[in-house]
Amino acid sequence: MTNFFKRMRKKLSDDIKPVKYMRFVIRNRFQIILVFSFCFTFMVGCNQGFDKGSVEHIKEVTRAVNNDRLINADRTPQDWLSYGRNYSEDRFSTLTQITKLNIDSLGLAWTLNLGTTKGFEATPLVVDGIMYVSGPWSIVYAVDVRKGELIWTYDPKVPREYGEIACCDVVNRGVALYEGLVYVGTLDGRLVAINAATGDKAWEVLTVDQSESYTITGAPRVFDGKVIIGNGGAEFGVRGYVTAYDALTGDQTWRFYTVPGNPENGFENEAMEKAAETWTGKWWESGGGGTAWDAFAYDPELKLIYVGVGNGTLWNQALRSPKGGDNLYLSSIVALNSENGNLEWYYQTTPGDNWDYTATQQIILAEFEIDNQSRKVLMQAPKNGFFYVLDRTNGALISADPYVYTNWATHVDLKTGRPVETDYSRYKEVNAQIFPGPAGGHNWQPMAFNPVTKLVYIPARDLSMIYGQPLNWEYNQDIRTFNIALGGNKNAITRMDSLAPEEKGMLIAWDPIEKKEVWRAPHKSTWNAGVLSLEDLVFQGNAEGFLVAYDAADGTEKWRFNVGSGVVASPISYQVDGKQYITLISGWGGVLGRSVRFTDQLYPGTIYTFALGENGAIPEYPTIKKEFIDLEVTVAMDNIEKGKLVFNQYCNRCHGTPGNGGGAYPDIAYSDKAVFGMFSQIVGEGAFFSKGMPNFGDRLDENQINDVKNYIVHEAKVLKNNIKANDPTNSGIH
Ligand code: HEC
Repeated sequence: MTNFFKRMRKKLSDDIKPVKYMRFVIRNRFQIILVFSFCFTFMVGCNQGFDKGSVEHIKEVTRAVNNDRLINADRTPQDWLSYGRNYSEDRFSTLTQITKLNIDSLGLAWTLNLGTTKGFEATPLVVDGIMYVSGPWSIVYAVDVRKGELIWTYDPKVPREYGEIACCDVVNRGVALYEGLVYVGTLDGRLVAINAATGDKAWEVLTVDQSESYTITGAPRVFDGKVIIGNGGAEFGVRGYVTAYDALTGDQTWRFYTVPGNPENGFENEAMEKAAETWTGKWWESGGGGTAWDAFAYDPELKLIYVGVGNGTLWNQALRSPKGGDNLYLSSIVALNSENGNLEWYYQTTPGDNWDYTATQQIILAEFEIDNQSRKVLMQAPKNGFFYVLDRTNGALISADPYVYTNWATHVDLKTGRPVETDYSRYKEVNAQIFPGPAGGHNWQPMAFNPVTKLVYIPARDLSMIYGQPLNWEYNQDIRTFNIALGGNKNAITRMDSLAPEEKGMLIAWDPIEKKEVWRAPHKSTWNAGVLSLEDLVFQGNAEGFLVAYDAADGTEKWRFNVGSGVVASPISYQVDGKQYITLISGWGGVLGRSVRFTDQLYPGTIYTFALGENGAIPEYPTIKKEFIDLEVTVAMDNIEKGKLVFNQYCNRCHGTPGNGGGAYPDIAYSDKAVFGMFSQIVGEGAFFSKGMPNFGDRLDENQINDVKNYIVHEAKVLKNNIKANDPTNSGIH
């Protein structure tokens, strides 16, 4: 262990003790002073006058979440106060009751059904046993951990049109907490501050132009009395930015655009003027992209807020910025002055992004020795497959090494800080199989950094996509259209990678100092959940519906729990009344999970809370048996072909290929006769609009809708017959 780690461990354990003493016996005067000074500083759990869970109690404990508490989050490991647990966003809990030696006795304390089957990506926050969780349609839930019961629900009433405008499902990744307010970014682009005790709205601001296809799924962060929020929507054509608001009033403090606008309108600042020199063509007409939809980290000493910037609109650079260029600040980490939002430095992970290689993935701050020198670093595993360690004081590149299989670039040149691309990677003359694909080597699923093992645990995957130039492509102005300008050139050859690994998902333990993988745990699916690290354990949920704990040092599996339905969110750990808990929200969904899943059943989003010595019952959900729709085809084969084209253009992204079993959204080949009886009302008149099913009445006429319906009926028949022919015992249930 380096001195730094020794120091840090000592500091943390010293700080935990007062909490324990408070709960048990106060042994001497010195400790009494310690307890009171602790209470004075942190104002938590010291006033025994209020019933825990009462409005007064919640008011008191949430109002005490101030700048000091947030900066010193490591001193109160019993709470989980912000998205990444602390400003370093390391998701490492120093609580030590649950270890690999006693994990066998970890069991269910309680569960809470949140009543909807759409995806849950959120990391909950907890302060003195009061938990805040966000869910589909940006709904916020306050939960009493002591009772396992809902305290209040806040529904921002997101218009259901946004189900279609959002690229990646109606998910929300979490809330922020500050001085008695809970903040949520809503799918339709608002930032709402909610009274943490009552669930009433305190204020809201519109952070986007709602005539464009901006959406928010990311968690806001609070720093220095300000709350910052970004947005998404680059696939649909927007210009990205982040905005900081006064956390108490909602007044705008500053805004930083991530890509330049039309030069004719003048530039907002020098950073935009410089960035414009790296773009060509008329990028501003489609917005340029660069949406900052997930990662923020804050260094209170350096007064820098680090923001991860996303991909371009369009993904294809040849059509976005025809004469090339780096296209700043796409796929970059930008370090902004936290007071005024001015750009202090940037590092671009993927110059001239051409593959949807966002650098919006989690940013972790740490301090460790490299070459006998203590460095303040920033770490990221962006989609592009390289693990970056930067000096966070100035953005200098320390190392960049592939953490998954990559073939778009051979390596990153440490002198220039630039990737060295392979000759086919820009898919100009050929269609090319590129690793990673747009899902990324790593995506939004949070990783964790453990300062004891000094490893970063990355939810990763080897997954490619074939990229190619589209033929006769045109920008579609309908804001509901995915405008990425790919497609593939039918007249060109497709270059597959003969060295390509098997496509798979895995949890990777990465040593950022030695720059190498230390262990990996394989998964069945390429898409799994976020991570939590304790001192000697790493927890991760997966697509097969398990929460698994691995030995942090060597990846040996130590414990698993079946929640029966897929997981994408990250677990957290906290302590209430002296007892350590692990909480995980299950709830399959999100960009991939909408249309595919890896469990037979789909259960509603459910909060699972675990503690040692507990043995609670798992919730019972009805098992739904799937049967193919059995109707007669009423149109000619030509129309079935037409129906298939319509389905692939408009329906597939949410419902998946008919017969695949569905994801969080139903596979319509298994819908029942009543649904088919009202098919044209559902598809063309908005009958299921309130559930998030778009109304296609303005785009599809009655004949087209009838063709789609018949295409699905036809597919169901073919599949059913195939299954019968192959295996009479196979019911077709996925
Ligand atoms: C943006 C995502 C999205 C797209 C695109 C989409 N749907 Fe849906 N669809 C939904 C959602 C959400 C539901 C409701 C699911 C539920 O019951 O929770 C739904 C439900 C349905 C249902 C009822 C299924 C049942 O068993 O209850 C049908 C039929 C349907 N959609 C047809 C279509 C067709 C046809 C298209 C293409 C023209 C299409 N959908 C495109 C999201 C989508």
